[in-house]
Amino acid sequence: MNDQEIIDIETRYMANVFSKKPVVLTKGKGALVWDINGKEYVDCSTSYGVALLGHCHPKVVAAVQAQAEQLITCHGSYYNDKRAEFVQKLVQITPKGLDKVFMSNSGAESVECAIKVARKFTGKPEIIALMGAFHGKTMGALSATWDKKYREPFLPLVPEIKHVAPDNPDKIREAITEKTAAVLMEPIRGEGGVRVPPDGYLQAVREICDKRNILFILDEVQTSFGRTGKLFGCENWDVIPDVMCLAKPFAGGLPIGITVAKENVMSSLKVGEHSTTFSGSPLVCAAGCAAVDALVEEQLVDRAAEMGRYLKSALESLQSKHRIVKEVRGLGLMLGIELRYEVYNVILKAAERGVLVLDAGRTVVRLLPPLVINKKQIDRAINVLDDVLGEEEIERANSSPVPN
Ligand SMILES: Cc1ncc(COP(=O)(O)O)c(C=O)c1O
Repeated sequence: MNDQEIIDIETRYMANVFSKKPVVLTKGKGALVWDINGKEYVDCSTSYGVALLGHCHPKVVAAVQAQAEQLITCHGSYYNDKRAEFVQKLVQITPKGLDKVFMSNSGAESVECAIKVARKFTGKPEIIALMGAFHGKTMGALSATWDKKYREPFLPLVPEIKHVAPDNPDKIREAITEKTAAVLMEPIRGEGGVRVPPDGYLQAVREICDKRNILFILDEVQTSFGRTGKLFGCENWDVIPDVMCLAKPFAGGLPIGITVAKENVMSSLKVGEHSTTFSGSPLVCAAGCAAVDALVEEQLVDRAAEMGRYLKSALESLQSKHRIVKEVRGLGLMLGIELRYEVYNVILKAAERGVLVLDAGRTVVRLLPPLVINKKQIDRAINVLDDVLGEEEIERANSSPVPN
């Protein structure tokens, strides 16, 4: 099949729910991917933050190959060696006290479990989330997601989930009622535009939750596994939540969701109250063991911090060069370039020239490169963005910027 045939088949038979780019990817290695015609791309999208170890990390590939010959599936109602190994490795790296795990298959599912556990533990229904938040698109997670374009077609959503303005602890204080079970937020809002909270915010929310006896849930689906230059995003502010949602990179590219909570909190879920068929499958757990080993042994968290500084300063130099760039923000290798215009063209043009980047809302170009990216590959991406932003600036010269 050639690229057009592949595009035609997907278009013909698949639900039209993704904003597709005309690129047919067939191979990946480290920070690079190739399309079906052999064209090479620097991947600063990592499948929306999944391929943090780079594509096809050799340790993950070997672990998956070996486990596939041993046992692929094993329901949670039986015990399994790889599952035990993975969960043990996991709780060795999670923040202190977070050591009781439920495994699922996606970020949204990790949020579903967190919402259920919060309601069950507290016996209360209400969840406070943030305006601008993104927590996924299943009905519970969607109810905590902010953007009305995702929510409105599916009303009514799960009740008693409300949103308050971000970055201001008073808004949370004011929103808490006797019905409140938990506050749920991302440490850095990813989809919401790569928005880093002001220093002190997460600590203040932690204190409020302690004082008012409600749970603090952090959705670290995008900010964990070294992404922000720390193992978990919350470590940037020395805060430990009661429940943490994990997903994307934890199984080296295979589907996974993880909800990890304090022992007493997770123990409120009784047999049968929450489960999923694929929870903790041996294949995924074998990949997860290899992924966590690679992260630790190759010291990729420190590398993310170093490469993140390098990439951010290169992006800042683009900001001083191109008026079209309003702001550069983010932590580690989770970075956003806010433009004065819509970014869709920039993303398409960058892809045409061999660099894959993401959006985060209408005006933000989001870069989520793998932790293994090197300076040469970063320079390559920056050169392409430099050209594309320069051209965009000329093309936009007579159009008005997107209002604030
Ligand atoms: C912070 C956050 N939470 C939840 C999700 C949903 O994860 P998934 O797409 O795996 O359901 C995402 C996805 O991007 C996310 O960024």
